[in-house]
Amino acid sequence: MEKTLLILKPDAFKRNLVGEIIKRLEMKGFKIVNMKFEFLSKEKAMRFYEVHKDKIFFNDLINFMISGPILSIEVEGENAIYIMRKLIGATKPEEREMGSIRGDLAIGLTEDLVHASDSKENYEYERKIIFED
Ligand code: CDP
Ligand code: MG
Repeated sequence: MEKTLLILKPDAFKRNLVGEIIKRLEMKGFKIVNMKFEFLSKEKAMRFYEVHKDKIFFNDLINFMISGPILSIEVEGENAIYIMRKLIGATKPEEREMGSIRGDLAIGLTEDLVHASDSKENYEYERKIIFED
């Protein structure tokens, strides 16, 4: 069994899609093992997305991530990291598969409802930041 981290971003709360998203990961068979609701500080958001600090979208991304609450969910499942990335769908709007969370529900590029770890190393890095305190 493998673990991964899914984060419901502020637009999931704005659009009342929290239940819908959690339903989808439960239906897929993921087991929820940890959860944290919080308002990210700017500093914590910047540390979380440090890998993107030189990208042109970084400021917009950080402002979006602190615009409302987030819900971080650790789940367990077979091949969880790979399967969860499939379940959330692609980053680019035009590549988002129908049937995926982003493909079915997300409208924007920055406002894309969810984050999911894309590797074991990034999962370890991200879970430490989220659940540190
Ligand atoms: O979340 P994912 O791993 O699919 O994408 P990323 O390339 O790691 O980008 C992180 C986040 O930055 C995305 O989830 C979007 O919210 C945002 N982003 C953006 O605003 N503009 C882009 N051109 C790419 C990503
Ligand atoms: Mg990413």
